[in-house]
Amino acid sequence: MPTPSMEDYIEQIFLLIENKGYARVSDIAEALEVHPSSVTKMVQKLDRGDYLVYEKYRGLILTTKGKKIGKRLVERHDLLEEFLKIIGVKEENIYQDVEGIEHHLSWNSIDRIGDLVQYFEENPDRVEELKMLQRTNEDENEQEKEDNAEEIVEDNEQEEKEPI
Ligand code: CO
Repeated sequence: MPTPSMEDYIEQIFLLIENKGYARVSDIAEALEVHPSSVTKMVQKLDRGDYLVYEKYRGLILTTKGKKIGKRLVERHDLLEEFLKIIGVKEENIYQDVEGIEHHLSWNSIDRIGDLVQYFEENPDRVEELKMLQRTNEDENEQEKEDNAEEIVEDNEQEEKEPI
């Protein structure tokens, strides 16, 4: 199995080829926010691992094995985004959170999360129930924060009154 970092590369290379038709070292470097020399090193490693074929001036293509894994990694990423969206995670957190967890879950967990996403998709009323529960919990959180803030103000007022 590829390491987390190899997975990031295979995932991005697969996406680039899918979207642009090719993946250049500079495109990969930009997508992953790393130095092109790191890309070259990793690309050579992936070449040795038979995930892709790299020819310096002709560019790079994924092998059958690389394509198969790339497709799975992209699907896994999309599934996790879908999952976080359904459970109500804020849009602005979703991409980074998925990037953070995707390499650290077993395929067993991924498959079960897949079931859950499917379950929610087939039962939209459950999604609505979940949203209602979230609203209640969020309201309680807000109330707690307000209470804490009031307590702090009261404490401060008391301290001011206490004789030194
Ligand atoms: Co990803």
